[in-house]
Amino acid sequence: MAHKITMLGTGLIGMFYTRALHEHRRPDRVVNVYSRSADHARTFAEDWGISRWTDDMHEAIRDPESDVVVIGLPNNLHKKAIELCVEAGKAILCTKPLALHGKEAYEILQMVEKAGVFHGYLEDLCYTPKTLKAIETIRQGSIGQVTWARAREAHPGPHSDWFWDSEQSGGGAIIDLGCHCIEIGRNYIGKDVRPVEVMCWADTLVKPIRAEDNAIALIRYETGAIGQIEVSWTFRGGMELKDEVAGTEGTIRLDHWLRTGIEVFSSGETGSYVAEKAESSSGWLFPVGDEVNALGYQHMFTDMLDALDENRSPMEDFYDGYVVNAIMDACYASAKSKRWEPVNLPLWRGTIKPHEKIGPKEYDTWHWLIKEEKMPDGQRKVILKIKDTGEIIQKFIAS
Ligand SMILES: NC(=O)c1ccc[n+]([C@@H]2O[C@H](COP(=O)([O-])OP(=O)(O)OC[C@H]3O[C@@H](n4cnc5c(N)ncnc54)[C@H](O)[C@@H]3O)[C@@H](O)[C@H]2O)c1
Repeated sequence: MAHKITMLGTGLIGMFYTRALHEHRRPDRVVNVYSRSADHARTFAEDWGISRWTDDMHEAIRDPESDVVVIGLPNNLHKKAIELCVEAGKAILCTKPLALHGKEAYEILQMVEKAGVFHGYLEDLCYTPKTLKAIETIRQGSIGQVTWARAREAHPGPHSDWFWDSEQSGGGAIIDLGCHCIEIGRNYIGKDVRPVEVMCWADTLVKPIRAEDNAIALIRYETGAIGQIEVSWTFRGGMELKDEVAGTEGTIRLDHWLRTGIEVFSSGETGSYVAEKAESSSGWLFPVGDEVNALGYQHMFTDMLDALDENRSPMEDFYDGYVVNAIMDACYASAKSKRWEPVNLPLWRGTIKPHEKIGPKEYDTWHWLIKEEKMPDGQRKVILKIKDTGEIIQKFIAS
């Protein structure tokens, strides 16, 4: 069915979400938009053909015509907006991060589940066409067991004041970009695999702020797999969005932004928009064919609204947002203590039974396989470990 949507926020994400919902002849429509500035709300409504606008958040959420509320407000306002949506009994789609920290995310999850309202976590980067293909490839077993998933998001820093004030945002590059990278890694490693502990380095290298502007973290999962996240608010040259997944039988590499297969040279005389967070409009440029699609917004809203129609949970819901917030808490704890810190999950819905650890492959009844390689002379060489003695041997096998 076609849904009627209230949009909260007229900033960058409000614009991307509205584009994703209104483009390509979709039946769903934003029917009411809220901004704290009446002028912004009116201009946004005019730009996107939205019939009603308001500077009263309560009024926007209670609009009897809309059945879904999309939250695109600064991080410290998510909980308040969700409370109002619960009171109004609306389906709720909230942007990332779900909350400022794990405790707040857990309270939000309990609140929506108690009320029985539909909830979707708008983690678009898990829905990019490339990411969906990579997830499917992994599910089909094409790369074996995932041992390591690296996700990197780096750009020259966010576009609005409130991101830089940790009172409003809850942190720095980890809370802003790390949430994407963590959830990308969970999708590759397997969402039912428990994240156990985190080791994180974070520092404020360049910007005059209290929060971190750069960070790297390793998240150890119960299979032994590692999720590696790399985030930066000081990277120069545009926005880097990259994933790499290593498995026992294969590897996947994805590049979402700076190199997508279209390269343009411009003298810069006209200086038009190139792509989100691009730093230059002259010289060799790396535009993106369809930003809204490449960032996953369209596939994300399709899943969210289909899930609502089909009375099921979407691929990403508030439970996922809560797990991500809990992992980010462990990142912050580890950056401070400089030790591995546990991921505190008072509620865990993955496997109860411990997952099998990643381990060696059998060559035959008597040997483990360490390595197999085709040599320049055409012979196949295998390196084996004898199970009984532990001795490591090699032999050549004629191919
Ligand atoms: N890819 C993504 O999923 C993605 C990308 C960007 C932002 N976001 C998230 O979307 C949310 C908004 O980010 P944005 O980039 O649109 O920010 P923005 O600064 O561009 O827009 C923020 C909106 O919130 C309003 N706002 C700001 N302070 C307010 C206040 N105190 N009271 C009421 N309204 C207020 C602004 O007027 C504006 O409409 C954040 O949670 C951010 O993390 C997600």
